[in-house]
Amino acid sequence: MPDPDDHQTDPPPPAPVPVVLDCDPGHDDALALLLAHADPRVDLRAVTVVHGNQTVDKCLRNALAVCTLAGITDVPVARGADRPLVRPLRVAPDIHGESGLDGPDLPVPTVVADPRDAVTLLHDVLTAAEQPVTVVATGALTNVAMLLRAHPEVVRSVRGVVWMGGSTGRGNITPFAEANAANDPEAAQHVLDSGVPFTMVGLDVTHQALVTADVLGRLRALGTPLARTCVGWLTFFAGTYDEQFGMPDPPLHDPVAVARVLDPALVRVVRTHLVVETEGRWTSGATVADLHGYSGRAANADVALGLDRDGFFDLLVAAVASYG
Ligand code: RIB
Ligand code: CA
Repeated sequence: MPDPDDHQTDPPPPAPVPVVLDCDPGHDDALALLLAHADPRVDLRAVTVVHGNQTVDKCLRNALAVCTLAGITDVPVARGADRPLVRPLRVAPDIHGESGLDGPDLPVPTVVADPRDAVTLLHDVLTAAEQPVTVVATGALTNVAMLLRAHPEVVRSVRGVVWMGGSTGRGNITPFAEANAANDPEAAQHVLDSGVPFTMVGLDVTHQALVTADVLGRLRALGTPLARTCVGWLTFFAGTYDEQFGMPDPPLHDPVAVARVLDPALVRVVRTHLVVETEGRWTSGATVADLHGYSGRAANADVALGLDRDGFFDLLVAAVASYG
């Protein structure tokens, strides 16, 4: 006969990881935002917006529209840098359209931007937090570099920067540079030099997250308005990836960085020395990961190389489903 007082209680779930998301929505950024807000393992405390896929004003409007669409009203969203630290602005209408988030019609945002600029909001959130906060960055690192430049001591409040950007091999905007790295190489190098724990989630893994027909089918089967919008975004993205790269199954870059925080086991990393090329005539923005230790320099970053693709898309589909 079991003793009624002898019941076992499950251990409480671990406390959610506090996160801020710095992004440039962008189709894959939009899904990264939905994933970061939906999953209970993450406590999303701020969204900051940077130039990149389009002008910062268009990306900000897109972030607010995504929040409106998904009913995300409890997270401040702030406008950040409108250009790289030292280089001219470059946007990507060939991949993300003129709005930065072309495809399905989006609501006129009813969620309004926070009055603070991105650096002020990030500083406020990081310094008020009861524990170090993870910065997930899915665009150029301009906002993060400006934060660390203005407030170097804030490094202590950052658990790590997990960045979708870079590649250990070829690029996607120049032969050797990935777009987020090429858009502001000086910012990326500044963040690395700050000594903040750094994880690069680059094309090596995001090109393992290809949105194939079965993924679209799983999203479509959810049957919700938000899922239909996600399918519309990914269909637009598939079209531009096919045109530009001959890839009809596009890589879903940015949510992979969020997945690394939600469930680190989904994304395998190696520890290595990492530097960003800021001077190369043909290779500016290349992220040089010394995977074989040629330089003998101390490791300063985790670089993602492997993805549990099934686990990743299970997470993503569940996140979209959770909005109902
Ligand atoms: O190279 C892919 C990255 O560039 C993604 O973050 C995409 O949104 C664009 O910013
Ligand atoms: Ca992005």
